[in-house]
Amino acid sequence: MASEKIIDGKAFAAALRGRIATGVAAFKAQTGRAPGLAVVLVGEDPASAVYVRSKGKACREVGMESFEHRLPADTTQETLIELVEQLNDNPAVDGILVQLPLPDGLDDKKVIDMIDPDKDVDGFHPVNAGRLAIGANALTPCTPLGSLMLLKDRIGDLSGKEAVVIGRSNIVGKPMAQLLIQENATVTLAHSRTVDLPAVIRRADIVVAAVGRPNMVRGDWLKPGAVVIDVGINRIASDEPGKTRLVGDVAFDEAESVAGAITPVPGGVGPMTIAVLLRNTLVAASRREGLADPEGL
Ligand code: GUN
Repeated sequence: MASEKIIDGKAFAAALRGRIATGVAAFKAQTGRAPGLAVVLVGEDPASAVYVRSKGKACREVGMESFEHRLPADTTQETLIELVEQLNDNPAVDGILVQLPLPDGLDDKKVIDMIDPDKDVDGFHPVNAGRLAIGANALTPCTPLGSLMLLKDRIGDLSGKEAVVIGRSNIVGKPMAQLLIQENATVTLAHSRTVDLPAVIRRADIVVAAVGRPNMVRGDWLKPGAVVIDVGINRIASDEPGKTRLVGDVAFDEAESVAGAITPVPGGVGPMTIAVLLRNTLVAASRREGLADPEGL
């Protein structure tokens, strides 16, 4: 996969984590403390437990403090909100992330609403969604911001580019569209009701696929030379009996021959998400301390 067409998110994320570690050292020198990230996991979902562990490890590797809170699956809404309020009030905590999805019976919107927007390193709070929409200083959702970083690294100036985002989730599609608008791209937000999706995608210089449907975007839907960011992480049966493998929302082998550049799955957008979470935590910590935003992040 060492083709120039491949956008190596793993390498980009490693370099970003290096710059964050430098920023964390400077923050410590100025404030005498480490930035702190609190991660809350409710219940026993194995995939979520893996994410939470890797977030804690990534924190420590860049010199941040990690606070992990594990609550049982039968935790009440009130107990979870009390924990969020404690974390809001704890001066050592700069970032709060409540791992989603929450178990049945808990209302993720109500929980997110309780997070202090200035500690909302996921960028999911309505105040941050609003700030992003008006171009104010938002904490921005990690996956779209990581995707934008990869696009700018590959393309440079995005002004005037035709961008098609497929998927309108609050976590990826909508904030991705906002970020591309801010970069002066011409943005189309396509979704499950879009008529003739292949024709819409064929216009695009930039395609961001975030739908959660394995191999949905075909190679012959792409304009030759288009830059493709595949946000999908779908587990499907592999050719080997009893085994599974990860694929994106884009049929990679077909798309690679048409695209100008493309992110692989795994190793594309995925590694960027945690790196940007650390970046957001350092940004939140700096703002809370009245410091300038760290440069080069
Ligand atoms: N679950 C899967 N991805 C994410 C994420 O980026 N943030 C949170 N809070 N939960 C998730």
